[in-house]
Parts: sequence; structure tokens; C-alpha cells
Amino acid sequence: MAYQWDSSLETGYEKVDNQHKQLIAALNNIILASREGKGKDEVFKTLDFLTGYTIMHFSDEEKLQVKYDYPDYLIHKRYHDEFKATVGELTARIVKEGPSEEMVGIVTTAIGDWLLNHIKGDDFRMAAYVKAKAAEQGQE
Ligand SMILES: [Fe+2]
Ligand SMILES: [Fe+2]
Repeated sequence: MAYQWDSSLETGYEKVDNQHKQLIAALNNIILASREGKGKDEVFKTLDFLTGYTIMHFSDEEKLQVKYDYPDYLIHKRYHDEFKATVGELTARIVKEGPSEEMVGIVTTAIGDWLLNHIKGDDFRMAAYVKAKAAEQGQE
């Protein structure tokens, strides 16, 4: 297992946290499939799942930010857009070159490390703001 969920990744906003758990599981599946020398199709399937799940997750986070007038919405959205572009580029590369140990390294850094940093920084700040706003407005 390349990445492990622990409380240092918990933003305290349950829906967001549950989606982050799924993202980390999807990330581990890509690394595992690449490492085990699974075929291109198998690795592509795991990447395809991550791509779809990421789009859904980012969209949910962005809706929350809009709903509560999050002041850093635009910059947060830009980070999301940049990451989606990175995942797209990586997918294209894997389709072209096939999975490899080098690819595991790239996926680990470009996807895994980015995701963990984003969760611990941007998502933590967003979750704290959204939770406080929701409490203020008497919502969950
Ligand atoms: Fe997130
Ligand atoms: Fe985010």
C-alpha cells in the first residue's frame, strides 16, 4: 500500500473526508496495478476511475464553496483544474508508453503527493470555513 489514510488527513467535513478516502484507495489501485505489471488496459481502468471520481469530488467541493461564498474559491478551483489537466496528461502518457516502474514514481509524486498536500492545506482551510459558516446558518 503506497498511501494510508490517517487522522492527519481528516478535515472534519464528513462527506469530503469520505471522498478523500476513496481517492486514496483509487490512487493505491493505480500504483498497485502498475507495480504488479498488469497490462495497459488494467492500469488505464484504474486511472479512468480516478479521473471520474476526481471530477465528481472537485465539483462537490466547488459547489460547497459557492454555497458558502468561500473567499478563496477561484484559486481553489484553479488548483483543481490544474490537477485535472495533470491527470489527463499522465493518462495519455500511460496509454502511449504503458505502465512501468518509472510511471509509479510519476504517479506517486504528481498525483499522490499533490493530493495529500492539497488535502492538508487547501481542503483543510476550506472545510474549516464551510463548517463555521454552516454552523452560523444553522445548517449541517
Ligand atoms: Fe478534496
Ligand atoms: Fe480541493
